[in-house]
Amino acid sequence: MVQIAPSLLAADFAQLGKEVRAVSKAGADYIHWDVMDDHFVPNLTFGAPVIRALRSYTDTPFDVHLMVQNPMRLIDDCADAGADQITVHLEVGQTENLISHIKSLHKKVGLSIKPKTKVADLIPYLPMIDWVLLMSVEPGFGGQTFIPKTLEKIVALKELIGRKKIKIAVDGGINPMTAEACRLAGADVLIAGSSIFHQKSYVQAIKALKGK
Ligand code: DX5
Ligand code: ZN
Repeated sequence: MVQIAPSLLAADFAQLGKEVRAVSKAGADYIHWDVMDDHFVPNLTFGAPVIRALRSYTDTPFDVHLMVQNPMRLIDDCADAGADQITVHLEVGQTENLISHIKSLHKKVGLSIKPKTKVADLIPYLPMIDWVLLMSVEPGFGGQTFIPKTLEKIVALKELIGRKKIKIAVDGGINPMTAEACRLAGADVLIAGSSIFHQKSYVQAIKALKGK
């Protein structure tokens, strides 16, 4: 069964506590935090203090997606704030150091690639990570259209992963239609903002993405 990670980027920032509780109760498997620095992506969101403030609102694992140019500086703070897994971008470099650092803090490790980065570039790091986050839109903003080429990347990545225990997560433009295509291609986790938080019923929205 595919897992669903609602992205708080699309939540009501004036009521984050309420949103985190509601979406957890509605069946979220993870809470996805899009941390942006206005350098790696042209947008700015929240950081460790906000993550920490929301930690006591749910037991659902926190998945922190660091869309930042210098993740090393933020990893300790995010881990200490309550992140259960931390995802960094391959494009920022220092990948081995970043992975070892996250592991040394006993957190799960995610590695993300932007739409134009090839899945083959992930090969050297596959033995060291817990999940791959394939961006299916250019990172930075919610509400964009899913890039169809991501489906081929899911299939290719699945092949590269083989029997290793690595989850494939897809992030950006996920709605019930693109969710189905991603599930069929072999995705394990779907990250969705607008198609959950902009709907009346979070329960129904999550079910729809699971194909139920
Ligand atoms: C994009 C973020 C996504 C985003 C997805 O930069 O990484 O997590 O919130 O939003 P939707 O689901 O609205 O495309
Ligand atoms: Zn994200």
